[in-house]
Amino acid sequence: MPRIVDADLIALVAALLEKVGSAPAEAKQVATDLVAANLKGHDSHGVQLVPRYVLNTEAGEINPNATVSRAFGEGAIGVFDGHMGFGQSTGRQVTAWAIETAKANGMAMLGIRNTHHLGRIGAYAEQAAAAGLISFFFVNAVSGVPVVAPFGGADGRMGTNPVCIGIPKGDAPLILDFATSAIAVGKVKVAYNAGKQVPPGALITHLGEPSTDPAVIYGGGPRGALGPFGAHKGYGLALICEILGGVLTGGGSNPPADTARKAIVNGMFGFVVDPARLGSLPAFAAGVEDICRYVQDSAFGHVLLPGDPERRSAHRRHDDGIPLDDVTWGDLVATAERLGVPVPAVTEGVA
Ligand SMILES: NC(=O)c1ccc[n+]([C@@H]2O[C@H](COP(=O)([O-])OP(=O)(O)OC[C@H]3O[C@@H](n4cnc5c(N)ncnc54)[C@H](O)[C@@H]3O)[C@@H](O)[C@H]2O)c1
Repeated sequence: MPRIVDADLIALVAALLEKVGSAPAEAKQVATDLVAANLKGHDSHGVQLVPRYVLNTEAGEINPNATVSRAFGEGAIGVFDGHMGFGQSTGRQVTAWAIETAKANGMAMLGIRNTHHLGRIGAYAEQAAAAGLISFFFVNAVSGVPVVAPFGGADGRMGTNPVCIGIPKGDAPLILDFATSAIAVGKVKVAYNAGKQVPPGALITHLGEPSTDPAVIYGGGPRGALGPFGAHKGYGLALICEILGGVLTGGGSNPPADTARKAIVNGMFGFVVDPARLGSLPAFAAGVEDICRYVQDSAFGHVLLPGDPERRSAHRRHDDGIPLDDVTWGDLVATAERLGVPVPAVTEGVA
């Protein structure tokens, strides 16, 4: 399994995105966010997406260098059109607006529609937390035939629809960020690429039978579906994401009008809140520390806080290099060769 230094991977991805028309600053930012997902352990939302982003850009499904515009709302309320730009850029632009707005008004209410894939949603919660702000995001994902079955159903009707909440806490914010499917669909792809099974309970076949085989989604045969996490609870949240992220923002909910379209389209609804406007900031910060310490003092002392696994992974992978499965690396190399971009050195053979 190749292992690559994060700075080299950012440079490679940025060069690929520049080849399809992204300006250097945007290409570097999108590349940095994709590699950050790998650093934080979420390979599903990292560079394995790059060949698809490149193809989608070449096909006119992504508009490089798009600037968001307010489509609806005024004051502290804004629904933004992403003009099908790179979602990592759209998300950063709208979160920056929300931070500035929440600092001025106490809160901002945001919607995003018509953007390509927003990637790892925790990036925006981290952006808000770094400014001392609480954030909530509800996202729907519309991309081809829906892949997540509702609780009690047997075929895909919704996207993997992530929910994300961020709470500032010194330099280690709480970032709760997860797909409402049993696992992220990108993790099914990563497992398929690596020839691995996924955990029991994650998948059903096209006949509605439980399966751990990622070929149920990616094998090319009759397509199965992902289940929701947490049975009826995850299903309920996924449905709410369709309504808030898709219907309320005007971005649209599943199914897409054209299931053959290759773009990954996200809709996002969220709030960014300044805790200083709801009471004493020192009391809030102390209370967050107290409850977190109390929870972590539970027997055995192995309790992590949301955001801890990602911080640990980022330190480790920054020091040791980012491991990429052979299919992901092979696809990146093939894309680089096709576009005439030099490929950096990797360390081979490390599991
Ligand atoms: N843009 C999209 O359309 C889209 C769709 C789906 C998912 N995603 C992204 O995929 C990523 C992965 O989602 P996922 O569902 O695979 O995440 P996951 O199941 O790995 O859960 C991650 C969350 O759980 C926390 N966590 C993990 N282990 C923990 C522990 N032991 N103790 C405390 N907290 C713990 C993490 O800090 C994080 O907040 C997310 O970043 C999400 O935003 C994006």
